[in-house]
Amino acid sequence: MKAQNRRSWLAGAAALAALAAAAPASAQEFPTKPITMIVPFAAGGPTDIIARVMAESMSRTLGQQVIVENVAGAGGTTGITRAAKAAPDGYTIMMGHMGTHGAAPGMYPQLAYNPQTDFEPIGLAAGTAILVVAKKDLPPKDLKEFVAHAKANEAKINQAHAGLGSVSHITCVMLQAEMGTKINAIPYRGTGPAMNDLVAGTVDFMCDQIVSVAQQVRGGTIKAYAIASPQRNPALPDVPTTAEAGLPSFQVSAWNAVFAPKGTPAPIVARLSQALTAAVTDPAARKRLTDLGADVPDAAGASPAALAALVKRENERWIPLLKNAGVVAN
Ligand code: MLT
Repeated sequence: MKAQNRRSWLAGAAALAALAAAAPASAQEFPTKPITMIVPFAAGGPTDIIARVMAESMSRTLGQQVIVENVAGAGGTTGITRAAKAAPDGYTIMMGHMGTHGAAPGMYPQLAYNPQTDFEPIGLAAGTAILVVAKKDLPPKDLKEFVAHAKANEAKINQAHAGLGSVSHITCVMLQAEMGTKINAIPYRGTGPAMNDLVAGTVDFMCDQIVSVAQQVRGGTIKAYAIASPQRNPALPDVPTTAEAGLPSFQVSAWNAVFAPKGTPAPIVARLSQALTAAVTDPAARKRLTDLGADVPDAAGASPAALAALVKRENERWIPLLKNAGVVAN
């Protein structure tokens, strides 16, 4: 090679190397650093429990830590708003749920995100049955007695929930409509801290997702009156369904799912989705969640397309329901 050609070849190679160093890591290399999974509720609640099981398994698949960050407030909409505005590079994802991505637009007129257009769905992590639970020394022994007690003591008892629009809020709005009561509801930053007060006996009852209820009921620290699903759950086989217990019209269940901000590149969404699929089909992760009563999807049920369809259906169900009920957060 002549000296001049060699010099220009070297200059070209150096320019290419500089370009490569300056370019962002390609989707094929993703991830090259830890990923943050925002959980929009306090630690210890159902969304946090499900997120930590998923994050642990996804970390192994991705070869990078998936770190759970709890950003609580406004029924989960504070954390989801922050996650929606994060850089769409795959390094910030979130665990949303039936409240944040299904019901919130019906409850928050000023909601800063649109669940159907501001996210890249990654996939469903778990379905969760809803239970009516109470402090262990609340007098009623069963659901029928509880309904009578709630009506007779409307002004004296309290219900806990995780903020307006949270699952524990909207499902107990349904329960109270069925019971014909207007019992005072106390908002928390998640049902983790609400559960602490239920166990301590400073609040009377709550509607909560099975994954944070199962161990407490098994341990006898709280009592469960009924599960609002068509069948009993193997994690709590002694708890009757609402139909068996005399309130068949109260039927509702929840879900938790992973999303990325809108604009996250498709190959990165695919990589995250593959890691989530590996997590929901990972026998150890599945067992941890099914032992707590969760309904863990198969690979098809955890696909981005299935989640996009679920969010649309849930918006169509919850938005008119909450607007008609006049339940609005100002
Ligand atoms: C939580 O993790 O605290 C719950 O998912 C909150 C809720 O009831 O929506």
